Amino acid sequence: MAAYEYETHEYDVVVVGAGGAGLRATLGMAEQGLRTACVTKVFPTRSHTVAAQGGIAASLSNMGPDHWQWHMYDTVKGSDWLGDTDAMEYLAREAPKAVYELEHYGVPFSRTEEGKIYQRPFGGHTTEFGEGPPVQRTCAAADRTGHAILHTLYGQSLKNNAEFYIEYFAIDLIMSDDGVCQGVVCWKLDDGTMHVFRSKMVVLATGGYGRAYFSATSAHTCTGDGGGMVARAGLPLQDMEFVQFHPTGIYGSGCLITEGARGEGGYLTNSEGERFMERYAPNYKDLAPRDYVSRSMTMEIREGRGVGEHGDHIHLNLQHLPPETLAERLPGISESAKIFAGVDVTKEPIPVLPTVHYNMGGIPTNYWGEVLNPTKDDPTAVVPGLMAVGEAGCASVHGANRLGSNSLIDLVVFGRAAAIRAGKVVDPASAVPSANQASVDKAFDRFDTVRNADGATPTAELRLDMQRAMQADAAVFRTAKTMKEGVEKMTEIAGKMSDIKVTDRSLVWNSDLMETLELTNLMPNALATIHGAEARHESRGAHAHEDYPERNDDKWRIHTIARVDGPKVDLSYRPVITETLTTEEEGGISLKKIAPKARTF
Ligand code: FUM
Repeated sequence: MAAYEYETHEYDVVVVGAGGAGLRATLGMAEQGLRTACVTKVFPTRSHTVAAQGGIAASLSNMGPDHWQWHMYDTVKGSDWLGDTDAMEYLAREAPKAVYELEHYGVPFSRTEEGKIYQRPFGGHTTEFGEGPPVQRTCAAADRTGHAILHTLYGQSLKNNAEFYIEYFAIDLIMSDDGVCQGVVCWKLDDGTMHVFRSKMVVLATGGYGRAYFSATSAHTCTGDGGGMVARAGLPLQDMEFVQFHPTGIYGSGCLITEGARGEGGYLTNSEGERFMERYAPNYKDLAPRDYVSRSMTMEIREGRGVGEHGDHIHLNLQHLPPETLAERLPGISESAKIFAGVDVTKEPIPVLPTVHYNMGGIPTNYWGEVLNPTKDDPTAVVPGLMAVGEAGCASVHGANRLGSNSLIDLVVFGRAAAIRAGKVVDPASAVPSANQASVDKAFDRFDTVRNADGATPTAELRLDMQRAMQADAAVFRTAKTMKEGVEKMTEIAGKMSDIKVTDRSLVWNSDLMETLELTNLMPNALATIHGAEARHESRGAHAHEDYPERNDDKWRIHTIARVDGPKVDLSYRPVITETLTTEEEGGISLKKIAPKARTF
């Protein structure tokens, strides 16, 4: 047994991660007087939410008629009917409240002439249950909305006495023998000390795992740490095969160019200068949802109409927009285009390519953020003491495809929901339960094994093998052959974790060790993705299976549940929740309105 000394901390709630969801949960917990710690591997305002550009969806009706039911309908259709209906209703209904709260906390939203929150169009957001024109539903702070939200929530959390443990890396969850989460074991990166956080509730808000891929808009810190910890605790991951490619990553670097650029009037062209989206989505054109646009761009490139020397990308045109609009509404991406593509957006198009952007799948939860461990008898069984929110979680509101700007609203609606729920289930007067020592020891043993790993394969090499395999075999379009190869490759790559080499054995600022621990988290996420994809014999949302090009609701309108143990993945399925929270008589949406149908734009 590895002998590490550690300091013990006790809280009502420990939130792991300080992005939009983590901070909104932290703030909500602290506001209610729960003793709350937020443990984060990066400084809060450097969390990946800072990179969120275009905005946050809510039916405020500031720029024209809108309704929460229209937002819900768009989310259901956007998800390609894989989202859970109760969670999607909760999201759309609570969104306006959650955005006004942000406004009152101090988020500096862009404004209309009348001083209202400015809202722009985004892909897949429509009026009249998909029958009307696009709606301006996405509330924006120029093209730096995530940045504005993150800074505000951090300030508010401090004001409410939440305690921050910054640059602490979470190693593993502490689980009791009967499956209750009791805390988390952490390593403090800047001085090498070890910490055991005991709590009544742990909230995983660790973000996505975009870095399982070679080219992603995600920060290098997006390594699926929550999913890794959950998998090692014997708990499942859900719907991991659904990986979103954002249509407009800058060609080469993968940096994000916000969908807000098309919302403000930008459009895509091929090598013939054709606005090709008019052919694929005659009604909504460049404002069709992301899976649709990414596939259309890929088809153009495949059919020889890509731009550039190698005909391997597409042009995003903004040069027709007034320079004042670009300066006022899109200053951030104008700068990114200059830096990363050498392009002056007032004069030339930006070279773009679909780039991995978001994980629809994650740790299964109900719409209160409580983590689920589904069984045959109880598909919504809750894991006591454990919640997951934000991109780490899967509520599931995005189903098989997320609409742009539904991510920021997911972060704050479900961060807030977790806090509301914790206010009911966490008793501040009770004692913090003691931690299962065997589970604490197991975490330190694993840490020590990784720290002293002395195989022949450097972490960077194995990570690159994984990223290349995922990029090639779990791509925009997938075939039975590529996914079978992907499963074989990923099984071999994951098997090599036992041959990993860590060169630096120190405990202070050891990036070699941290990146290796991150790789141990990326790996189960990647394995669940490729296995889930290979098994799903249909096309739905972001999962475009060329051998099964149709959606098959009879057989596949179900959530994939993946349990990962080393390189092995066990798949099972659980039903999609098709009931609304409120009936039509109570003011809810009619079930007929959201019944599955062909998904065209
Ligand atoms: O395009 C964007 O601004 C990204 C927004 C999102 O992913 O929701």
